[in-house]
Amino acid sequence: MSEELSPAEKAKFICAKRAMDFVKPGMRLGLGTGSTAAWLVKLIGEEVRDNGLKIVAVATSDATAQLADECGITVRSMDEVKWLDLTIDGADEFDPNLNLIKGGGAALLQEKIVATASDQMVVIADASKDVDVLGRFPLPVEVVCFGWETTKGLIEEAISNLDVMGQQVTLRLDSNSNALLTDEGHYILDLHLGRIGNPRELSLILNQIPGVVETGLFLDIADAVVIGHVDGRVEVRDINNGTVENEHIEVVAADNMFMDLD
Ligand code: A5P
Repeated sequence: MSEELSPAEKAKFICAKRAMDFVKPGMRLGLGTGSTAAWLVKLIGEEVRDNGLKIVAVATSDATAQLADECGITVRSMDEVKWLDLTIDGADEFDPNLNLIKGGGAALLQEKIVATASDQMVVIADASKDVDVLGRFPLPVEVVCFGWETTKGLIEEAISNLDVMGQQVTLRLDSNSNALLTDEGHYILDLHLGRIGNPRELSLILNQIPGVVETGLFLDIADAVVIGHVDGRVEVRDINNGTVENEHIEVVAADNMFMDLD
């Protein structure tokens, strides 16, 4: 039998559970990456196994593809599916306009391709990701390995003229202290900006630097966010309709049994 979930994990679980309401049979679905999205993948796997849910799934990382496979979800390639009805993914930060920082799990490139090619993107996140202004979480930027130090220098020069608080840029390392390689074979530079005054300007400028593949700024991509709170409250904010819904979700015994599938 599983142990009790920590409050933080419970918040992640309940927003993933609420986001299942967006999933309809027959959908072409983008599966996000990270610890919150992992709950969603497990919940979808449960529906596939127990209730015969039929969906077409595309994963946003190798890790998610592997987890989906373990959960009994058949994963198709983006090139097979081409366009999706819905992507549900986590975020490192979201602001009142539902602009996001993503890439804490180094999967921002595939995540952005998949989310952009979706009719709808729903973010699932615990309340700690809710910020007034983006930037406290270091902004991940995926860069090609060739000439990465030159690219880093160009990024440093670019941000020195922008409305940000900090300017430190670091190469992300893996657990062996080697440069972390993304699923696409690139490096990640983390921009410790503290506060991003103008995300749109920053995004445009970074994307003009030749070695930059993509940034973790997701602007005008998300449609709704499902926010999980540690007390069991779940809030759904829909940026298109301007609606906010609140409800309470209990983690019941059956859910705890489900968590044993880890
Ligand atoms: C993966 O690259 C990220 O974009 C994740 O979606 C983001 O880091 C959120 O992850 P958690 O749900 O683990 O916080």
